[in-house]
Amino acid sequence: MERFVATGGCQLVGGVDVPGAKNSVLKLMAASLLACGRTTLRSVPDILDVNVMADVLRALGASVERDVAEGSLSIDVPERPTAAADSDLVRRIRASVVVLGPLVARCGEARVALPGGDAIGARALDMHVSGLAKLGAVVDVESGILVARSSGRLQGASIWLDFPSVGATENLLMAGVLAKGTTVIDNAAREPEIADLCAMLVSMGARLDGAGTSTLVIEGVDELRPTTHDTVADRIVAGTFAIGALMTGGDVLVRGGRADHLEIVLDKLTTAGATVDTRPDGFRVRAERPPRSIDVVTLPYPGFPTDLLPQTIALEAVSEGVSLITENVFDSRFVFCRELSKLGADLRTDGHHVVVRRSDRLVGTHVAASDVRAGAGLVLAGLVAEGITSVSEVHHIDRGYAAFAEQLRLLGADIRREPRGGPDARRDDR
Ligand code: UD1
Repeated sequence: MERFVATGGCQLVGGVDVPGAKNSVLKLMAASLLACGRTTLRSVPDILDVNVMADVLRALGASVERDVAEGSLSIDVPERPTAAADSDLVRRIRASVVVLGPLVARCGEARVALPGGDAIGARALDMHVSGLAKLGAVVDVESGILVARSSGRLQGASIWLDFPSVGATENLLMAGVLAKGTTVIDNAAREPEIADLCAMLVSMGARLDGAGTSTLVIEGVDELRPTTHDTVADRIVAGTFAIGALMTGGDVLVRGGRADHLEIVLDKLTTAGATVDTRPDGFRVRAERPPRSIDVVTLPYPGFPTDLLPQTIALEAVSEGVSLITENVFDSRFVFCRELSKLGADLRTDGHHVVVRRSDRLVGTHVAASDVRAGAGLVLAGLVAEGITSVSEVHHIDRGYAAFAEQLRLLGADIRREPRGGPDARRDDR
């Protein structure tokens, strides 16, 4: 059990490189199952979830090779993948549920354990299930395993999602590309990671329109071919460094960051006092004065991303004024507030709102990450708290941030990784 130990009081200054997006690459890996042969993914981040997903694919019969230095992943998919995903692995990351669509489309059967992932709410799968049923699959839960079967090829259908769920859109999109006839997904999620998945599917031979919009129209094809694809940049990692720059009074060039995928976030940070310059190689965030409070409401893309909520609450804890934050996507994201309060943050939660007042000072103490983004928010708070903050349960942070402590150190932070017991058995950041 390792932890990050940060000494507060630094300014983040310098340049940082943004890797490929966790929330894209995991789905691109699942999409490789749609074609027999070798698919190559590039700009693959060196994070824990990629390792777990690689093991999920291996258990399905694929051979997966990773070149961490190159940031590439090669996935060789057999003619007939195994239909049953390994339950222990699937329970470790929720994103693995997206193997359901490709498997049932290619094998006529998929068996996937009810998945795990962050502890941030109920995270139901009803839209995945009802959408697959519309495409002609019979879906049951058998001893905690979701089983989808289709007697022949899936049949195209019109599907209306009650909510623009990212995972349901991806699962149904990947099922629809091999279904017979036309599939329409309405009220689809519009996240850049879904547009990235659409681009990969098109390069595999899929026929679809509406990538990046709320209506996806798919003409099913008989088969797809493997491809080579570059993963879109991680807007949440980019946004985390942008928030860190403002919080610490710093100046960070976020290289490879896509400002066009963070419009609302960068606009809010500008209102809060940052100067943001978009450049050909990314964007630069400078804090020329202490941050002022902003109100934030999370919504599906292009709204403010829920995955930047903890980092934003941490920012608000040191911003001048009072801020009202509203979470509309998950029901338990505010678990994070308990930990942030231990540092002295003045937070009052009520349902899906939290009121944040500027604290006179945050003071370092021991806190624990409850999910990947909460962990990032606590680390940022530790960079501005007086004294030493230790953040335990860093395996959550490793799920989505490659060498986070190392990256922050390169920007001037005083942060290191050490075993929970102390610095003796310290290992290098990955
Ligand atoms: C993905 C992201 C996650 C991000 C989220 C919202 C990955 C690996 N994870 O998660 O980081 O925070 O999008 O941007 O890409 N819901 C239902 N029924 C369903 C499906 C979803 O009620 O069938 C609910 C969920 O409980 C949740 C909300 O819809 O409250 C959003 O979920 P969804 O958009 O599906 O998020 P994920 O794909 O799980």
